[in-house]
Amino acid sequence: MAVPGVGLLTRLHLCAQRSTRVQRPILRLLSCPGTVAEDLRRDEQPSGSVETGFEDKIPRKRFSEMQNERREQAQRTVLIRCPEKISENKFLKYLSQHGPINNHFFYESFGLYAVVEFCRKESVGSLQNGTRTPSMAMETAIPFRSRFLSLKLKNQTSEQSCIQSSDQLPPSNRKLCELLCYAESIDDQLNTLLKEFQLTEENTKLRYLTCSLIEDIAAAYFPDCVVRPFGSSVNTFGKLGCDLDMFLDLDETRNLSTHKTSGNFLTEFQVKNVPSERIATQKILSVIGECLDHFGPGCVGVQKILNARCPLVRFSHQASGFQCDLTTNNRIALTSSELLYIYGTLDSRVRALVFGIRCWARAHSLTSSIPGAWITNFSLTMMVIFFLQRRSPPILPTLDSLKTLADAEDKCIIEGNNCTFVRDLNRIKPSGNTETLELLLKEFFEYFGNFAFNKNSINIRQGREQNKPDSSPLYIQNPFETALNISKNVSQSQLQKFVDLAQESAWVLQQKDTDRLSVSNNQPWGLAAILLPTVPNRRSFTKKKRKRSANESVRNLLESLKSNRTANFTETNEKRTVSTQT
Ligand code: GTP
Ligand code: MG
Repeated sequence: MAVPGVGLLTRLHLCAQRSTRVQRPILRLLSCPGTVAEDLRRDEQPSGSVETGFEDKIPRKRFSEMQNERREQAQRTVLIRCPEKISENKFLKYLSQHGPINNHFFYESFGLYAVVEFCRKESVGSLQNGTRTPSMAMETAIPFRSRFLSLKLKNQTSEQSCIQSSDQLPPSNRKLCELLCYAESIDDQLNTLLKEFQLTEENTKLRYLTCSLIEDIAAAYFPDCVVRPFGSSVNTFGKLGCDLDMFLDLDETRNLSTHKTSGNFLTEFQVKNVPSERIATQKILSVIGECLDHFGPGCVGVQKILNARCPLVRFSHQASGFQCDLTTNNRIALTSSELLYIYGTLDSRVRALVFGIRCWARAHSLTSSIPGAWITNFSLTMMVIFFLQRRSPPILPTLDSLKTLADAEDKCIIEGNNCTFVRDLNRIKPSGNTETLELLLKEFFEYFGNFAFNKNSINIRQGREQNKPDSSPLYIQNPFETALNISKNVSQSQLQKFVDLAQESAWVLQQKDTDRLSVSNNQPWGLAAILLPTVPNRRSFTKKKRKRSANESVRNLLESLKSNRTANFTETNEKRTVSTQT
């Protein structure tokens, strides 16, 4: 446990630690009425707006629709490194020579950057045609034509800085503590946390743009490839600062020939063969990794992690500030993201609860950005979904019931695994459950503080506990590869820490009446209190727990003495028997 008093500020910092330095943009929208872009902009929602849920009554987009629209937007967009002093009006006027701009924003990440989305894709080509490769005095530039540009001022002194970038970092720990303490209820606290930590519209745009820029590089080898974001960047559970998981989709390249057959002949590409899919994946990622390393503007620290269970290329995209993991042949993970997107969009309580639990877990070092024996955010999300399926009436449907709602178009088999479920959110019946977030948070901790992890597994496909098929401390069934456990890595001690903290947090939340009085004393209460490593009133829980454990220890000792006596007795008898026999 951390030092009391360092508390929330230190711990919450962990939540925000990997936050991007993206700043709140000055979103001056120079819209182009009547364009597809304008239509998209009108009805687009941030991948995580607080207002998602049944309450919306707005038809909600399918995951694939949302991905395609954002990808198309990103293809019309450029990333520009700007001089520190720049006039926004002149900047826009200069770029508008190439065509109307749909929207733009500025952010800071070790320098000032602009994301500029044109109304038409041709404008990007026109801008690129008027762009040159820099000439350097000491070094040599490798010529590479991309959509990541630098804007230079011809006359350094003539510009005044007119860019008013407002901050888009998550709030400071102090600010967050204040926001949570002055919230009116725990529901309010959870919604505040969600609002402050969720990906902003601009951050989401930047994620799609980064994928699009990487796609351009990979297209040098595979012209029909698509680089799709997956994981928390798109599944509605992304926190500012989360990594950017990318999937290099080569299906178009693979399937092209099947559409072009006619007559009695069949043409196939002459290709090189390798013994397995895994080796093919490793070879593809190896060349893309090299390419990113040598030619990828802004791609630094490229690591090829090809012997992992799921081979990947990891790198930092300096300009966006994203830590990127590029994989291929990982379609099931994309499908998992789609499933989580559905769960996160169905009911507004889901995301608020997941964010609260993720922040809580991070604050207590239950999760970590370093791989190890910890619980992952993905596993935590599965636990929340499972818990919400177990409510009465259920807040979320089981995966099996989503499968029964599927139509022919939703049918999907990946590597022999049935990944069929309904993709159209509007066909899923709303839940009649009206429980508050406060109750759900408390009950989540109660539920998992007392869960029989030693014998039961968690299974969102059926939404019920099942006998564990093996002795892993924590068993969460992979929803699609049903023979796998997504939390196989979690050690008994990490699980125990989770259980202990869940019990403790349930207890702290039960003290709400006295706790709320502490608002006047400036003491954290409710959600803020459980994000703390230790608060004074929690000592009584620890004392009680210690007393309970002392009682338990005495009881265990007595039991073990009793059983030892029996064992000794049996042993003695056996010895006797043995000795008699001998
Ligand atoms: P963050 O911690 O915010 O990055 O959450 P995340 O959901 O993006 O997790 P992560 O980056 O670790 O993994 C990206 C995606 O890969 C997840 O959303 C899942 O779809 C998938 N994934 C991660 N871990 C596992 C696992 O153990 N098993 C399976 N089948 N898929 C996983
Ligand atoms: Mg991720």
